[in-house]
Amino acid sequence: MSGYEEQDAGAQQQTAQPDGKQDRPAQSTSPFMLGFIGTNAIGCRGVDQPGSDPSLKMMLQTSGQPVLAIGSAQSAPPAARLFVFLAQRNQYSWGAPSIRRETAMTLTCQRHLFDLPREICYLNAAYLGPVPRPILEAGERGLLRRARPWEIRPEDFFEPAEAARRLIGELINAPTDRIALVPSVANAIAVVARNVPIRPRQRIVTLAEQFPSNVYSWRGLAARGARIEVVDAPAGAQRARRWNERLLSSIGPDTALVAIETAHWTDGTLFDLGAVGRRCREVGAWFVVDATQTIGIEPLDAGAVHADALIAHPYKSLLAGYGLGFAYFGDRLADGSPLEESWMMRRGSEDFSRLIDYQDGYAPGVRRYDAGARANTSLIAMLTAALELSRQWQAPQVRRYCAEMSARLIECARSAGYEVPADGEHAANLFGIRPPRGTNLDALRGALQVARVHVSVRGDAMRVAPHVYNDDLDVHRFAEAIGGVV
Ligand SMILES: Cc1ncc(COP(=O)(O)O)c(C=O)c1O
Repeated sequence: MSGYEEQDAGAQQQTAQPDGKQDRPAQSTSPFMLGFIGTNAIGCRGVDQPGSDPSLKMMLQTSGQPVLAIGSAQSAPPAARLFVFLAQRNQYSWGAPSIRRETAMTLTCQRHLFDLPREICYLNAAYLGPVPRPILEAGERGLLRRARPWEIRPEDFFEPAEAARRLIGELINAPTDRIALVPSVANAIAVVARNVPIRPRQRIVTLAEQFPSNVYSWRGLAARGARIEVVDAPAGAQRARRWNERLLSSIGPDTALVAIETAHWTDGTLFDLGAVGRRCREVGAWFVVDATQTIGIEPLDAGAVHADALIAHPYKSLLAGYGLGFAYFGDRLADGSPLEESWMMRRGSEDFSRLIDYQDGYAPGVRRYDAGARANTSLIAMLTAALELSRQWQAPQVRRYCAEMSARLIECARSAGYEVPADGEHAANLFGIRPPRGTNLDALRGALQVARVHVSVRGDAMRVAPHVYNDDLDVHRFAEAIGGVV
């Protein structure tokens, strides 16, 4: 174990002139903003007009860089139109207003949103995701509300949770009635263990070295006469493909439940959720998936996976706060019994004057499994802000950014003689590498520490987890640190 563990916008249409000069932006008569994000200058017109792009405005405002308003508002355009230009090294081109940002957006490095000193090379989001400024600020605003309880209304115990549920539903393609707000993966796993029917000698299938929160409750269940079958990782080439095959062939008519991770938490090995879900359906087994390491990055579709439970504690890949996550629960858990009987999760609890008219019925959908912490003004605000930021960035864009960063880091490791995963076998944001035989692991740990390169070293393998704040300099520093020790 390492000392670290546990521890453009822009639709651009180039309008260069034949003489090599760049076009200058035309004179604007509508409000105009200019900001600097990293080495890019981003300008936009119409930011305060109806229909303008709120996420770009937020990006400008949250960049932590100077944003100045220039231009005048003599005559606002009939409809808001967004002009974006990108300037690099004092040369700029600018974009046609007719191209919609959603189709043209390419996510660039978002380091400006994070409190990451330049000397820190953080490649360890699989341990703890650094919380970006907009999410921290949302949390701070939520916390400050607790100083003024007279301003907190009964609706505030419910409405923010519903807003978060809607965003989660969008992210994983699930109806809001199927989403519970849970305090941890362990909690949601315990919900399933409490409700799944199990007969003696049935099997519970899990992966080798799975995260413990997705193990201990199954052990408790197995004590009732069932047995746990652990599917080991094969050694050698095409490890992910062969691990998936082993997993599928271990599911049979005597399987009561299969519990896995979207990507293995130790090395990012991806599992074929669609295929496992289908096999579970064929044999009638329950299917439980922990998406903590990839939520907001690798696509996750509750409908397509046919899972009984999809769970995520979003403080890693989704960069949210710690202590409030979510679970999608399928039909078989719609009428189950929760772990605790909270006043808030009963029908009619919105009417605080009638709480002692005790109710037998639960709140609709799977809200019965919600944690009371969903009403924590700070936690729910951070979760919602994280979901909003993810939506603004767009998950496929975050995935593309992380995949490119991973590909470059893997290339450095390959050049340094490391054993690296094959393309497509690991999550975009998480992979494992093994140093060449004979590497002095203590020296490697020391070199990483001195270079302030944060990864997780476990046994003879290294887990690397980049995110949207990593850039070329981080790749360079990683290469230097691992390349110097063999
Ligand atoms: C795959 C996975 N699931 C869950 C967790 C956290 O579990 P819990 O939410 O029970 O604290 C981690 C933390 O490292 C993890 O890697």
